[in-house]
Amino acid sequence: MSGSNGAVDTPMFEIENLHAEIDGNEILKGVNLVVNEGEIHALMGPNGSGKSTLAYVIAGDPRYEVTEGSIRFRGEDILEWTPDERARKGLFLAFQYPTVIPGVSMANFLRMAVTNVRNARAEEAANGGEAQKMTPREFRRLMREKMALLKMDDAFATRYLNEGFSGGEKKRAEILQMALLEPKMAVLDETDSGLDIDALKVVSEGVNNLSGPDVGMLLITHYQRLLNFIKPDFVHIMMEGRIVESGGPELAHELEAKGYEGLRARFAESSAS
Ligand SMILES: Nc1ncnc2c1ncn2[C@@H]1O[C@H](COP(=O)(O)OP(=O)(O)O)[C@@H](O)[C@H]1O
Ligand SMILES: [Mg+2]
Repeated sequence: MSGSNGAVDTPMFEIENLHAEIDGNEILKGVNLVVNEGEIHALMGPNGSGKSTLAYVIAGDPRYEVTEGSIRFRGEDILEWTPDERARKGLFLAFQYPTVIPGVSMANFLRMAVTNVRNARAEEAANGGEAQKMTPREFRRLMREKMALLKMDDAFATRYLNEGFSGGEKKRAEILQMALLEPKMAVLDETDSGLDIDALKVVSEGVNNLSGPDVGMLLITHYQRLLNFIKPDFVHIMMEGRIVESGGPELAHELEAKGYEGLRARFAESSAS
C-alpha cells in the first residue's frame, strides 16, 4: 500500500500484526491479511495452527486477549466494537450465536437474530430519526426469498433449532442466517470434524450464491476438498499462529499433492534464515 490518498487505498478488511492469547498462551503471533470486496480468501493450515482462534478473535470472543496489532473494517478498528456491533456493521461470523436452543424453531430463531441486527442497522441509517423496522411479515417474505435463492425446502424453517440436525442441516442454518444478514465480510470456519459431503455442498453452494462484487469472504478450512467446490481468489497457509505463505488456488493444489509437511519444510527453511 502506498500514497496518502487513504480513501482509495483503505482495504475493506485488514488484519495487521495481530497477536492474541488465551489463558496467557500466545496463539496468534503476528497475523497479516487483507480482504477486499468481491474476494474469496481461503485460510488453510494444520490442526492447532490458530485458524479457529483467528475466527474467534474476529468475532470478539472475550476468552481471547489481543495483545498487539489491529483488525480494521473499512478503516475502523473493530476491536473497539462489541460482537453485536460487529454484526450490525456487516461482519458475519458463522458461530456467533448459540448453537442449541431447545424448543425454538429455525424461523423464530432467525427472526429474532436477524431482525435485531437489521433493525439496529435501520436505526443507524435513519440517524436518530424514525427507522423503518422490519415487521414479522416482511421477515417471512425475506426468509422465503433467501430460502428460494439457496434452494432450501420451506419445511426447514419450521424445524426446531439444531434438534437432531445433521452436519449438513447445521451448515444450512448458518448459511441461511448469513443470507438474511447480508454481510459485507463473512468469515466461515469449516470445523474439521463431521463434515459430510452434504454439509460440504451446502456450504459451497451457499458461498457461491452469496458471494458477489460487494462481499468479501474468508473461508477457514483444514482440507483442500472444500476448494473443489469453491474457487478462492487467494489461499493462505497458517502455521504456528502466522500466515507463512499466500498465493492463488494453486497453493491449495500443492497442499493436496504434498501435504502440510512439504510446506512445513519450506517454512522451517525460510524462518531459520
Ligand atoms: N484455553 C487454551 N489454552 C491454551 N491453549 C489453547 C487453548 N485453547 C486452544 N489452545 C491452543 O491454541 C492452538 C490453536 O488452536 P485453534 O485455533 O483451534 O487451531 P486450528 O483451528 O488451526 O486447528 C492449539 O494449539 C490449541 O491447543
Ligand atoms: Mg479450527
